[in-house]
Amino acid sequence: MIISVFWGNKAMKSINYNEKTKVFTLRTKNSMYQMQVVEYETLVHLYYGADIGDTEASHRIVCLDRGFSGNPYEAGADRTFSLDVLPQEYSGYGNGDYRINGIEVGHEDGSDAVHLRYESYRTSKGKYSLEGLPCMFGTEDEAETLDITLYDRITDLKVHLLYGVFYDLDVITRAVRLENKGEDTVTIQRAMSMEMDYTNKHMDLIHFYGRHTMERLTERLPLHHGVQSVESKRGMSSHQHNPFVILCDKMTSEKHGDCFGFALAYSGNYRCEIEVDQMEQTRLVMGIHPYHFSFRLNTGDVFETPEVIMAYSDCGLGKLSRIYHDAYRSNLIRSKYVTSPRPILVNNWEATYFDFDEEKLFNIAKAAKDIGLDMFVLDDGWFGKRNTDDSGLGDDDNSGLGDWVVNEEKIKGGLPKLVKKINGIGMKFGIWIEPEMVSEDSGLYREHPDWVLKIPQRSLMRSRHQLNLDITRKEVRDHVMKQIFRVLDSCKVDYVKWDMNRSVGNVYSAALPSERQGEVYHRYVLGVYEMMEQLVSRYPDLLFENCCGGGGRFDAGMLYYSPQIWCSDNTDAIDRLKIQYGTSFGYPISTMGAHVSVCPNHQTGRTTPFETRAVVASAGTFGYELDLEHLSSEEKEMARKQISEYKEMEHLVQTGDYYRLSDPYRNHDYVVWQFVSKDKKETVVNGVQLRNEANPHIHLIYLEGLEPEAHYEDEKTGYVYTGAALMKAGIPLPVGVGDYQPIQFKFRMS
Ligand code: DGJ
Repeated sequence: MIISVFWGNKAMKSINYNEKTKVFTLRTKNSMYQMQVVEYETLVHLYYGADIGDTEASHRIVCLDRGFSGNPYEAGADRTFSLDVLPQEYSGYGNGDYRINGIEVGHEDGSDAVHLRYESYRTSKGKYSLEGLPCMFGTEDEAETLDITLYDRITDLKVHLLYGVFYDLDVITRAVRLENKGEDTVTIQRAMSMEMDYTNKHMDLIHFYGRHTMERLTERLPLHHGVQSVESKRGMSSHQHNPFVILCDKMTSEKHGDCFGFALAYSGNYRCEIEVDQMEQTRLVMGIHPYHFSFRLNTGDVFETPEVIMAYSDCGLGKLSRIYHDAYRSNLIRSKYVTSPRPILVNNWEATYFDFDEEKLFNIAKAAKDIGLDMFVLDDGWFGKRNTDDSGLGDDDNSGLGDWVVNEEKIKGGLPKLVKKINGIGMKFGIWIEPEMVSEDSGLYREHPDWVLKIPQRSLMRSRHQLNLDITRKEVRDHVMKQIFRVLDSCKVDYVKWDMNRSVGNVYSAALPSERQGEVYHRYVLGVYEMMEQLVSRYPDLLFENCCGGGGRFDAGMLYYSPQIWCSDNTDAIDRLKIQYGTSFGYPISTMGAHVSVCPNHQTGRTTPFETRAVVASAGTFGYELDLEHLSSEEKEMARKQISEYKEMEHLVQTGDYYRLSDPYRNHDYVVWQFVSKDKKETVVNGVQLRNEANPHIHLIYLEGLEPEAHYEDEKTGYVYTGAALMKAGIPLPVGVGDYQPIQFKFRMS
């Protein structure tokens, strides 16, 4: 029996169950996902990919007698049924499947087997939610939920496989809810959010690796036999490996071919493992890293995993990215700023570091007003005893964290007075905080030395000379947020930048018993989410920017709380080309914090034209981070133009389609990208010419996403082209202009 129909209410066309064949079919506009209940109540995975009509893909399951692949006892004499080779929807442990698996559970008798069998399913309109965890949201018209219950006969552990199907967005989300219905306590040792089994697929893995100041570099590797992983054990999603991966066919390119995206909406330790097994099958699992993880569930307790957001495209990587961009903008980011214009800001960090007083700050704000900026953001150094140090380097990050009280030695008269002055000249005000941290040299640490994560008897591991507060504890979270709210309530604050400047370390909470220490990493992340939820619900109009020493927590989880994340502490326009290129695969352009900074650049020493820095920053949230008082009058004039140009194109960044027109890893001559409005009436092509050669080649760039038969006028030259001409015949880049020059074209349908 078909339980949902393919017409009528949009949301109700996305989940079907055929009672006769026991096949579940999930459908989005351009993708299909199938699974089936087969022998011994086993839920096998059949298919994920392009829509295959009314075929049920059971024919893909071929059972053969395989040596050294065991058979469940109940299979009797049948040696062909083995969990070791069957594609499964969510695999257990100790049941003959030797591949990477979904779940492992420790039992009171010391055993750790879990054998999951199908029990039942339930569908509902709208999208499921997860307690205390970020996830996509969807109304009854936008999404449908499928909840399949598996269970372990021996312990009565229920495993709910949750699927959120967003038909129009082409997205399927996954998460797992565990419920201990048995009489004994169980300890979850591994609970991945999802598993995906591919039959006979030889694919490539695209992942986004890096380091502080060089985040989300792009690497494409062939899958190999055995296990490959992308992971973080740093207590945050990390600069090193982003929790977003793509699997794609060998021939897949920007515009062609099959690809699958997996994005984990989680900001802590995670692991994505991919195994190509003995039968050339591929299994991917993604979720909380099993490293230092365990979670005890007493009778009746429930544990929910974070969510994985999956998307499929048969039109290449560009389309896959656009699916994520649209989905996050409409159904993940909650802020009003996802679509409404954001104030364009100047941030004082690279202008002053810790070396400022109220006069200096006000002068920057005044200069910002003069060039047409909307907001002044006061970064690190305004609180506690975070003074300029005696070395004259102006760099004292050794103290003050945890004391969220204004430093009146630096800001005489306090924040309300300064903010009033800044507001008085028509500028908004924003502020930096780092709530998860404490300095040993702080009032908070002197009063509560036990409020930090610390392993008994072991000395502390410092990083940037600071420690992680034990925010698994409610009293710690509340104390910090209370102080911060006092500051935010004392003056008019329109923006907050929440920073985190060290990896989580010394992982042990004095407030938890020994058998629950495996919960600390996860409880830390839940603590962060709870604090952020308090902030955004108390100040719904606040523009909230996440940051973690730049882009160390650039993940879908954070986007649930903040519409933008500081992309990298590297503001060099040329390095940013690769950073922003990599980030664009999984995240909307409007989420990438990007600023124009001074040259020579503070991170690389490189000098690039002022215009180029603006073009690169405008493929992001756009702002400035330099001492505006020192701009020449010519630069001020240029900045005014840049700001008004960004304001004109901001709607394209926020709501348009984004196309990567070149690959900075292959093309060393130029990097180009394009925004197209949803109605295809406007397009902006931006980029940077990296190097010029004498007697140069003519480089043609080919636009995308336009109406082939429509006519488009080049705003600068007045030339009119058909969409087809711009896409198929291309347009030449300017020649002989010098290195690092900006590329800027604008076309409007005429
Ligand atoms: C790291 C951030 O990414 C920077 O923008 C700045 O806010 C510093 N922290 C301040 O400590």
